[in-house]
Amino acid sequence: MKKSIAGIVLILAVLVGVSSAPLLGQSGATKEPSLYMRLGEKKAITAVVDEFVARVAADKRINSFFAQTAADPARLKAFKGKLVDQICMASGGPCKYTGKDMKSAHSGMGVSGADFDALVEDLVAALDKFKVAAHEKDQLVGALGPMKTDIVEKK
Ligand code: HEM
Repeated sequence: MKKSIAGIVLILAVLVGVSSAPLLGQSGATKEPSLYMRLGEKKAITAVVDEFVARVAADKRINSFFAQTAADPARLKAFKGKLVDQICMASGGPCKYTGKDMKSAHSGMGVSGADFDALVEDLVAALDKFKVAAHEKDQLVGALGPMKTDIVEKK
């Protein structure tokens, strides 16, 4: 009997060890799944981008920048696709963003710091609509934030 209890304890210990192993880093610290996984993969990112772009299009502070994009369905679709790929890649997903780098993409537009902040506000509102948690929101905004210096051209 003692032997079989010891056996069960051993089996349980092995099972716990195996099941927790993928979540442990080399140091033994808990390792998070990628931000991409936590956001809900490509399907959820696509839904967030749809909502985000709709909010930008309705945002009087910045929608004039997107007048030509919004007026051309093929251009709008391509733009959304690039945003999805960019967010997917930046969050550790399997996509490859093949659009322009941020400096060339926004060169000559005259985007200001306030314009940039307005767009980030629209993104946060879209993430809120889908109840993305604060930690994931912070990580995504944190990944896009450093692009500000390449995008903003005026005060
Ligand atoms: C973190 C912030 C931003 C990100 C990640 C971002 C991302 C992008 C991407 C991926 C493209 C497509 C590039 C390509 O065609 O290859 C793009 C284009 C564009 N962006 Fe941004 N952008 C940001 C901020 C802004 C801001 C603040 C504005 C203006 C208020 C803006 C206005 C535009 C416009 C007008 C286009 C052209 C859209 C088109 O193809 O018709 N962006 N952006």
